[in-house]
Amino acid sequence: MSSSCRRPANVFIGLAALALSAAPLLRAQATQYPNQPPLLVGAAWYPEQWPESQWDQDLDRMEAAHIDLVRVGEFAWSTMEPSEGHYDFGWLDRAIAAAAHHHICVVLGTPTAAPPAWLTTKYPQTLRVDENGRRAEHGNRQQFSFTDPKYRQFAHDIAEQMAIHFGHNPDVVGWQLDNEYAEPDFGPTAREQFHAWLQKKYGTIASLNRHWATAYWSQTYDNFDEIPVRQDRENPALLLEWKRFVSDTWKSYSENQIAAIRPHADPRQFITTNTMGWFDGFNEYTVHSVLDIAAWDDYISTDQYDYIDNGARHDLARGFKMKNFWVMETEPAFVNWRPTNNPLLKGQVRDMAWQAIGHGADAVEYWQWRSAPNGQEEYHGVLVGADGTPVPVYAEVQQVGEEFAKAGPAIAGTSPHSEVALVNDYDSRWAIDFQRHSAAFDPVNEIVAFYRPLREQSQAVDIISIDTPFDRYKVLELPALNVISQQTADRLMEYVRNGGHLLLGPRTGMKDEYNALQPERQPGPLMSFLGGRVDQFYALDSSVPVSGDFGSGTASIWAEQLSVQSPDTKVETRYGRSNGWLDDQPAVITRNVGRGSITYVGAWLDPATLSKLTAHLLDEAGVQPILSGVPEGVEVCRRSGDGKSVLILINHNSDPAQVALPKPMRDLIGSQASVNSVDLPGFGVAVLAPER
Ligand code: GAL
Repeated sequence: MSSSCRRPANVFIGLAALALSAAPLLRAQATQYPNQPPLLVGAAWYPEQWPESQWDQDLDRMEAAHIDLVRVGEFAWSTMEPSEGHYDFGWLDRAIAAAAHHHICVVLGTPTAAPPAWLTTKYPQTLRVDENGRRAEHGNRQQFSFTDPKYRQFAHDIAEQMAIHFGHNPDVVGWQLDNEYAEPDFGPTAREQFHAWLQKKYGTIASLNRHWATAYWSQTYDNFDEIPVRQDRENPALLLEWKRFVSDTWKSYSENQIAAIRPHADPRQFITTNTMGWFDGFNEYTVHSVLDIAAWDDYISTDQYDYIDNGARHDLARGFKMKNFWVMETEPAFVNWRPTNNPLLKGQVRDMAWQAIGHGADAVEYWQWRSAPNGQEEYHGVLVGADGTPVPVYAEVQQVGEEFAKAGPAIAGTSPHSEVALVNDYDSRWAIDFQRHSAAFDPVNEIVAFYRPLREQSQAVDIISIDTPFDRYKVLELPALNVISQQTADRLMEYVRNGGHLLLGPRTGMKDEYNALQPERQPGPLMSFLGGRVDQFYALDSSVPVSGDFGSGTASIWAEQLSVQSPDTKVETRYGRSNGWLDDQPAVITRNVGRGSITYVGAWLDPATLSKLTAHLLDEAGVQPILSGVPEGVEVCRRSGDGKSVLILINHNSDPAQVALPKPMRDLIGSQASVNSVDLPGFGVAVLAPER
């Protein structure tokens, strides 16, 4: 069957570009299917909410906005399976065909985040139980139990029926499993499975008692089934294992649906799920190990768009599969779930779309296309109102669509590449979160504090798991690798011996894999390699002066009193007068090892001091920015591959900015063919390629 949803290739990209987008050149692309536009714009569309007579008008307007893709089906279980075992996919067939008629492809969502009322009424055990023993009710979503075998069976069956029906549909390009996994279950099946999981891992209860040090507070267990199921106020070892169990359970929850879909689906159809940035309910690397691509929902995390924070979350998502990814949802100017749902400023929707591409997205999809006639999200941002006619932001998305189509061929097959990496480690984030010691020590804020100057100065950062090979990076930062195994320590020492520059942030190396204290002081198994250690940590209620090689500044929230044990370990920064304990004590120490170095930063430093420290580290490691002399607030992203290199410049300021280029370049979305310098209006974007 030939595909009808893709626009004829030349409408998008022209003949020259077609040659460039031949199969082997598409390696970096997150997904691949015939004539795929290299950059896609999409929207979440809920045809089940509207009379069929209105679909065509919706799709017409989507096509006019250059929308290439709709995600449909997630949450539509009661329409797909109106009663047990009776499936109705006719409406979905017609919706997909209608979309294809408008050159719009489809991502199908399995509807398992919203079980129908008949299911949970007849089988109440499929409803999740919260930590306080309360069972969820119908009426919202995510009310299911992720461990319940009956629910797994229903989820498998609906996914399988969908795959049998749509697995070879040429207009279906991929699958989204469920929607934003989040809520674990604490009910009887979860408890049983947690105990079995622990038994498999520890073998004997004696081994568990030893690693968890359960003599403490008389926690000693005689049997696995005595172990409580909690996510708070418990032994730190139990809390960490619970999170790992939850991660494995979401993984098997995914595998259950993948096993239903894969045998019936064309290999070109990808399988993913949509995730939520820094959300730490489970280990994303564990879950992504069974998915084809990463896809995340980009809603800004505060009332104002902080482009560095948002960029970090893109880099995080790229690191889930170490390749390009999709933005499966993003806001069309505003959402409905913040305390104040103020809109993005005019121009920032386009700014965010290009930022996503700059960080390695190949698709940006808006949530949602049209206001639902009723339901919990009536106030949410959309592209067309309940009447089906465009709201003001529609025009901005239309511009994004036009620009993606124009610049797409030059970007096809490219990805961001970085010489520096920063580690995101769920075990460590959880371990810190369980016992913050200072409420202000938010592990994500701390990661972003280290990311900020690294991104500003190097203009390209990978955010990776601790299991990723380090050898491709000149600089590796572990903002707070609280939990460390001997094997990881060995890999890190090897990295430094081979010339890598390693930076460890405060709280690194305190715990072993069981969340028990390391027998040595921090940084545990790296202590003698560093030639220094943490003598004591302190939570700070006010800032403390620091001074040294990076000038004078302050530390706040957290400060560790360091000491030096080796003659070649150098003190770079010291605390000034503060609580007496810290006065004149080392705050940052470093040791050169061959061509590499290991640096321990014991404090949460102010941004200016951390920025100078970062500059020093990058300089030592020989990392250059992609483009120098760029005004503040202008972001530089580079995607390269297949002999191509494209620069994306985004002015995140509301005022204009000018960027000088080292040599003339073609602006792929601007009006001038060749430019020596770029004038960016407020929230302006330029997409630049070398001259031919
Ligand atoms: C997402 C969710 C969508 C929609 C959106 C609103 O978290 O996946 O279904 O609710 O939020 O911002």
